[in-house]
Amino acid sequence: MTGQDISIDMKRVPRHIAIIMDGNGRWAAERGKERSYGHQAGVESVRRITSECTRLGVEYLTLYTFSTENWKRPADEVAALMGLVLSSLEDEIFMKNNVRFRVIGDIARLPQAVQDKLNETMEHTSGNTAMTMVVALSYSSKWEITHAVREIAAGVAEGTIDRNDIDDEMISAHMQTSFMPDPDLLIRTGGEVRISNYLLWQIAYSELYFCDTFWPDFDEKALREAIACYQKRQRRFGKTEAQVENNE
Ligand code: IPE
Ligand code: IPE
Ligand code: MG
Repeated sequence: MTGQDISIDMKRVPRHIAIIMDGNGRWAAERGKERSYGHQAGVESVRRITSECTRLGVEYLTLYTFSTENWKRPADEVAALMGLVLSSLEDEIFMKNNVRFRVIGDIARLPQAVQDKLNETMEHTSGNTAMTMVVALSYSSKWEITHAVREIAAGVAEGTIDRNDIDDEMISAHMQTSFMPDPDLLIRTGGEVRISNYLLWQIAYSELYFCDTFWPDFDEKALREAIACYQKRQRRFGKTEAQVENNE
């Protein structure tokens, strides 16, 4: 299924899509398999959705891959996930799709081999221009905000930041996501209707889309459905419907 049958306006494709890729474990359980089998199938979904996003002209795709809270999972599952991150970071996929790779999160907590591979992939793909794929690893929003507050507080203490200059923009500049615009569309697969500590600052005005499909089943058609739903909405940013229609 390529999803070509779902019509979307190519001129109004979201610039930045963020995804909470949930439901791998339940997908595997339905098939009587181990959770790691679901994570493996999830990697295939990442490949499909990345290619489709580049075809659609999405500029940034931010994927929640492993949260700060996920460190609490059984050690064997954490190890399987780290192994998958390592094995799935093949240059070929990024080079074939002309995708730049970036990572956000508390990278220092990851195994050294994973850190090395992440740095290597970021370097190799830094010149690619079709899309930026951002992987959130050992990431949580509260961790990120805490980190930013510490940095700003240090600046104030050293006298390099005047506390009266602290504003929305400065705070954004101290986030891990400072190199990209905020998400236009946030998708969560897997049926849960929650944010799970993801991009809390950045999704202040994102359009939210929740679907029941487990991540391994989320395909091109499902993505196009999410974009079509996004395109039916009017983003008002506090203004009235009439103001937005009149471009005020
Ligand atoms: C999401 O799938 C992937 C990660 C959190 C790593 P889950 O592993 O949370 O799958 P479910 O929610 O248990 O089905
Ligand atoms: C959110 O999924 C994190 C990722 C998709 C990486 P979880 O499955 O960990 O979320 P909760 O704990 O059910 O909220
Ligand atoms: Mg889950």
